[in-house]
Amino acid sequence: MSKSTQNRRQFISSTGKAGMVLAAMPLMAKITPISSITSMTILTAANEYIQQPLSYGYAALEPYIDAATMEIHYTKHAATYAKNLADAALAEKLDTQTTSLTDLLKNISRYSPKMRNNAGGHYNHEMFWLLMKPAPATAPTSELADAINKNFGSLDNFKTSFGDAAKARFGSGWAWLIVKADNSLAVCSTPNQDNPLMDIAETKGTPILGLDVWEHAYYLKYQNKRPDYINAWWNLVNWEFVQKKYAEAITKK
Ligand SMILES: [Fe+2]
Repeated sequence: MSKSTQNRRQFISSTGKAGMVLAAMPLMAKITPISSITSMTILTAANEYIQQPLSYGYAALEPYIDAATMEIHYTKHAATYAKNLADAALAEKLDTQTTSLTDLLKNISRYSPKMRNNAGGHYNHEMFWLLMKPAPATAPTSELADAINKNFGSLDNFKTSFGDAAKARFGSGWAWLIVKADNSLAVCSTPNQDNPLMDIAETKGTPILGLDVWEHAYYLKYQNKRPDYINAWWNLVNWEFVQKKYAEAITKK
């Protein structure tokens, strides 16, 4: 099997729905100039710089996040970060084939504010879609549950700490659960589209859970009631995904 065929199969397998890939092609085509790619490139673009298809429908997260918010958030806001990241990469001669998105973020102080905003915006949103799902398990299990209990005392204490960080973020930004260099867990928040991977972040670590508290993420349904959005969002957290991110973070060191 050729490498490109194998990559294509892996990509389709990772989405779980080949139809979703095809459905997303017009959107991907908007993000990446179609003149510079082939259809095979779209499917093989295992490429973390390209917006990936959602694994659920826009209405799947209701009643906690409404369909209109999801559609606008994904097709307008997040898609624009991906497009602008591609533009910035071209302008600043970033080789996206050899530089991982994570490495870019870890060295983001060397790049322009446009790269910082859009690399962060793209990374943060791609993770955000994956860490939510309809009707998830209501609590973490295994090592993640142990780590949360060890670091915060209980799941409820952790949720309070995380919620406080999300409420206290003035203006636009994100709240995070991160794995620090010593493998301990911590809660922090970042402004705008920054994240804890960035070398300019006040608190650094590997994000394993993040909450978008930009008004575009909740205003249609919750208006000024950000705390209600935060409380409702816990009903969507995909703890299996967070556990996977946690396991990756502690074994990479
Ligand atoms: Fe957002």
